[in-house]
Amino acid sequence: MAYAAFRSIGAYVPSKILSNEDLATMVDTSDEWITKRTGIKERHIAADDEFTSDMGVKAAELAIQRSGLDKSEIDMVVCATISPDYFCMPSTATIISTKLGLGNVTAFDISAACTGFVYILSIAKAFIESGMKKNVLIVGAEKLSSITDYTDRGTCILFGDGAGAAMICATDNKDEAIIDVHTGADGTFADLLMTPNGGSGSAHDSLDQEANSCFMQMKGNETFKVAVRTLTKDVIEILQENNIESSAIKHFVPHQANYRIIKAVGDALKLKDEQVVLTVAKYGNTSGASIPMAINDIYEQGKLKSGELMLLDAFGGGLTWGSALVPFSPSK
Ligand SMILES: CC(C)(COP(=O)(O)OP(=O)(O)OC[C@H]1O[C@@H](n2cnc3c(N)ncnc32)[C@H](O)[C@@H]1OP(=O)(O)O)[C@@H](O)C(=O)NCCC(=O)NCCS
Repeated sequence: MAYAAFRSIGAYVPSKILSNEDLATMVDTSDEWITKRTGIKERHIAADDEFTSDMGVKAAELAIQRSGLDKSEIDMVVCATISPDYFCMPSTATIISTKLGLGNVTAFDISAACTGFVYILSIAKAFIESGMKKNVLIVGAEKLSSITDYTDRGTCILFGDGAGAAMICATDNKDEAIIDVHTGADGTFADLLMTPNGGSGSAHDSLDQEANSCFMQMKGNETFKVAVRTLTKDVIEILQENNIESSAIKHFVPHQANYRIIKAVGDALKLKDEQVVLTVAKYGNTSGASIPMAINDIYEQGKLKSGELMLLDAFGGGLTWGSALVPFSPSK
């Protein structure tokens, strides 16, 4: 049987910074309020002519180069995004694969909001373990600034742009394998976090621009409570099912939505500060890109070593959630 190994990571962060101070000139808020309630100090914003696929390509180039693979060996590209280049086609994954010059590969997007990276990890693992694919490029890429309402202080303070990518490759060596991935969803909470307009469910007869926009809307306080509850339950379950103590986790890489959510989950697992990867202060919430961007941060800081165990944990609109136990297994 083939196993799936997490071989490499890459990320891209656009250069333009939107600070809390900048936001305080746009809506009724302050650096103090945002920092205290979220832990976010700044987020990065893509240029007008920089698309989600462009950021995904830059992250992917790094991940491919670090994997040591030739591009011709890649047989599938999956992109997690809620801010694709185009609603609804072509998929951002097909644009990324073409810009990378990959030729004939299977390519598609998935929509699982901030849990997107965990979902595409599970897809890559399943395709590899079934023997259908060997080298799967997974990309989480978001231009959330394109679906953020910068007049709504409840949401615009949270979100940023960026991309992260990883190569997931077949291996015979079970020690290198992704141990487990959990994914779940519950649509009864759909109204907590959604883009109510712009799809087949919205008012097509309306000429009102707002009704045709794809801006995110969120019930922040309720989302916060469900996030803490769901994230905590999910990581406890995946650790128990695999007989792994939280002390064995070298890097807990949670979705970077809010420092207080991450702290609550980390405390519930009795994790030490040095186990918890935090990037929320500098990137904000980049949805499907947030986990791979965080993994790339520790990789580039020299903190992620071969064989070290990561615990990924995410939560997002849908509602969706997921967690994964992933040893870092670069090519030897
Ligand atoms: C959005 C969030 C930061 C708001 O923090 P909160 O502590 O829940 O704040 P509340 O929504 O209860 O609002 C408290 C007050 O602050 C105000 N407020 C909201 N946003 C504000 C802002 N940016 N600046 C200043 N005041 C703000 C509210 O209007 C409210 O005022 P009121 O008491 O006069 O009515 C927090 O709920 C959150 O992070 N939720 C999770 C969001 C998330 O992670 N979403 C993505 C999931 S993947």
